[in-house]
Amino acid sequence: MSKPISQPCLRNQEPIYQALKDYFKDAGNVLELACGTAQHAVYFAQRLPHLNWQPSDVGPAIEGARLWIDEACLDNLKPVLMLNIEDDHWSNIPFDYIYSANLVHFISMESVNSMFSGIKKHLKRQGFLALYGPYNQNGYTSEGNVRLDEWLKADINSKAGIKELDEVIQLAKHYGLQLEADHAMPANNHLLIFRKIT
Ligand SMILES: C[S@@+](CC[C@H](N)C(=O)[O-])C[C@H]1O[C@@H](n2cnc3c(N)ncnc32)[C@H](O)[C@@H]1O
Repeated sequence: MSKPISQPCLRNQEPIYQALKDYFKDAGNVLELACGTAQHAVYFAQRLPHLNWQPSDVGPAIEGARLWIDEACLDNLKPVLMLNIEDDHWSNIPFDYIYSANLVHFISMESVNSMFSGIKKHLKRQGFLALYGPYNQNGYTSEGNVRLDEWLKADINSKAGIKELDEVIQLAKHYGLQLEADHAMPANNHLLIFRKIT
């Protein structure tokens, strides 16, 4: 098997890194949820050597992620962990940072609820959560997002789809995660930064 390559990751990794580095500043442990190919994990772990990066995913993505991680052979990048956000227990250690890209639109709102519940349990107080991806703002914000939403509902899960930004921010708040910044990113994406306050 050759390494899977996500073209969107090649395009978005540098803009995400430029915004992320201002929050993921201090030494600590990062949990990445739904790492997919693990291209982001490799790119960020190379550039942020003060962080110990723990990528995770569920199912078939894991095999491809392993190839990227093995080839990178970085001291601060751990082997990919099998982690389903629906599970109650993710890890025995709490994390200083949690990062995830393109997960929220890929799953149902019920699953987003499970994700925040898990983040509340596994992110340290004052820790940062960074969520990258597309959001609606009183409906779709681009034609590309309309097509993405149609594809998600038809091919992935009828309950998946792009979420309203305000609903996600409110749900996060319910779990003690306060919005710190909303960075506009290329192709109508957002990098949302939350801080765990309770
Ligand atoms: C659109 S891909 C994003 C991958 C990568 N983060 C990126 O930006 O390219 C969505 C990922 O979510 C993962 N995923 C879906 N349901 C999940 C769950 N319940 N728990 C953990 N990961 C899940 C999939 O395996 C897939 O790798």
